[in-house]
Amino acid sequence: MPLRLMIKVRAPATSANLGVGFDVFAIALKEPFDEIIVEESDEMEVSVSGLKEGIPEGRENIAYRVAEELGVTARIEIKKGIRASSGLGSSAATSAGVVFALNKLYSLKLKREEMIDIAARGEEMISGEYHADNVSAALLGYFTAVRGKGKNLSAISIPIDIKVAICLPEIYLETSKSRRALPREIPLEDHTRNLSSAVMMFHAVMRGDVKAIGEFMNEGFAERARKHLIPFYDEVKRRALEEGAYGVTISGGGPSIIALIPEENIGIEKVMREVYLERGIKCDCFVTRSGEGVRILEVEH
Ligand code: HSE
Repeated sequence: MPLRLMIKVRAPATSANLGVGFDVFAIALKEPFDEIIVEESDEMEVSVSGLKEGIPEGRENIAYRVAEELGVTARIEIKKGIRASSGLGSSAATSAGVVFALNKLYSLKLKREEMIDIAARGEEMISGEYHADNVSAALLGYFTAVRGKGKNLSAISIPIDIKVAICLPEIYLETSKSRRALPREIPLEDHTRNLSSAVMMFHAVMRGDVKAIGEFMNEGFAERARKHLIPFYDEVKRRALEEGAYGVTISGGGPSIIALIPEENIGIEKVMREVYLERGIKCDCFVTRSGEGVRILEVEH
């Protein structure tokens, strides 16, 4: 029997929106991440291990949809390090990791925009709406901005080192529910405030000014519309800002909360954790940094 090619990749968690860049901005995080192995096969086979609660196996898994879009079959093993429905781009990591790995496995020669679009269509299956922010960051790494869809999609990545605290309370909030909380129409004044903050944030990214990025995170319409879905959100935000965070907002559709923090952080993640522990709500709060996109860990013939 001919030897089958196998590729193992690591696909990072991502934090989308950054307050004012709804469905446009995102950053890739160093931790947590998924590991995905793809192997040449004439049959489709998808298995999931690790933090797999809430993640369908087999045909219903996002990896299946992505392989179908690409018109290939493979044996796919997904080791989930990113919890589903966390606001940390769990489905995006799988979708982006599988597109990237299958592109290499079968030398499909997809352009990066094509990979982003296919991965975003996988995401659409989960949230019911197309959004390419998480998958752009998962594929390209660091700070990303994306616009459009299909042949009109364009995406940019700006390498910037940002230190963040993430606080994930132990509640499940599906992206589809979180998207239903958004207004369908936005008052002109909100639009202007949001857009101007986004432009200023982008300029701060170009200058590498993490403090200013944090300060511009606070003007987003999505945060206002969604914060009631996250218990004690205002208190977590207030305490983190008092402790010296540059900015705090909802990570993606939540329930994770992201704080941009100074290098000399002395426990912003601890005060965020305390808010939940004082109320008997379990949570996972940790410090990480922006990081690279999907990367190959191993290739075996
Ligand atoms: N931009 C998307 C949203 C990200 O906020 O719904 C979902 O993780």
